[in-house]
Amino acid sequence: MSTKPVSLFKEFRPAELWPDDRGVHINAHGGGILLHEGIYYWFGEHKIEGEAGNNAEVGVHVYSSSNLYQWKDEGIALKVSEDPKSEIARGCILERPKVIYNQRTRKFVMWFHLEIKGSGYSSARSGVAIADQATGPYEFIHSLRPNAGFWPANVPDGLKKPLDNAEQAQLDGLEFPGCPVPHYPPDLLFRRDFVKGQMARDMTLFVDDDGTAYQIYASEENGTLHISQLSDDYLRSSGRYIRIFPGRFHEAPALMKWRGKYFLFSSECTSWDPNAARLSMANSLWGQWTERGNPCRGTKEQIATTFASQSAFVIPVADHHDAFIFMADRWRPENAIDGRYIWLPVQFENDLPFLEWKDRWDLNFFA
Ligand code: GAL
Repeated sequence: MSTKPVSLFKEFRPAELWPDDRGVHINAHGGGILLHEGIYYWFGEHKIEGEAGNNAEVGVHVYSSSNLYQWKDEGIALKVSEDPKSEIARGCILERPKVIYNQRTRKFVMWFHLEIKGSGYSSARSGVAIADQATGPYEFIHSLRPNAGFWPANVPDGLKKPLDNAEQAQLDGLEFPGCPVPHYPPDLLFRRDFVKGQMARDMTLFVDDDGTAYQIYASEENGTLHISQLSDDYLRSSGRYIRIFPGRFHEAPALMKWRGKYFLFSSECTSWDPNAARLSMANSLWGQWTERGNPCRGTKEQIATTFASQSAFVIPVADHHDAFIFMADRWRPENAIDGRYIWLPVQFENDLPFLEWKDRWDLNFFA
């Protein structure tokens, strides 16, 4: 393994150590990128050594860059709280942070998947924090279960009602310990959670050309994705949302828009273990969404494991046409801090994106 900081080279080296301006491997896992006034900001989970690193002991780390190769450490954008009663108390689970800028309020708004300390993955909440500067400090505003008290826009009216006793009894006997469960009841869980709000685990944010922002999250015990419009200030869900792919257990959503169409990369549901990527597309965020298979090309192993990684985000590259970078994590749950970043160019064929492994590449790829 090279000890020379990769940041001296103007290229991407997927899966290798990626030193920041201080020569330290970048610590921003499950991340996302904000482009603001010509500068890229990379936000991600700060992990510590060992298995303990899978919990949030520090917070959300932020780096800045003008070229996407060389990253300056800008410190901890959102710190976990030392107050054990805080919803973001040190030791909670804080994953997949994403930041967007609200033109109207001039605030930087961060959303993340939040699990309250000590309750495993059962909280399934979204945390929201804001800042005046891209690099923070971010102030934690609140956490929520999205869309409490609102019905999804794309379900028949007959399903817009709370569970009856028989349906509730059907759920009482069921457990959802992990991912794909054979007994998944596609039409009961969003109704169960109507009052309390919808479960939200793996998530991303997306701002459309008109400034409307959306949260895409794995809901209903991970079995169904929701696409949910945010309020105008980006601080809450708006109540307008749809369910997509019920019972298909998509995780790790990462959305891009190309030539007026929306493309969603996601994964299957196997915890930290890599699995096959999925591509879906739609002409409108509100649907119809269709699955378009596995976007990866390469060896059997690469195709089956998304190059041993899981999607996190898609970066639209500034000043280039049709240039997008697929950003993914090669998790190391036994030593979380050593997780690696897989950045690959999104390529297109027959109007669909695809991905291929590259040991080394740079932005001239898009020239
Ligand atoms: C993955 C998910 C990660 C993390 C992990 C925990 O499926 O994408 O963000 O939540 O499970 O097991």
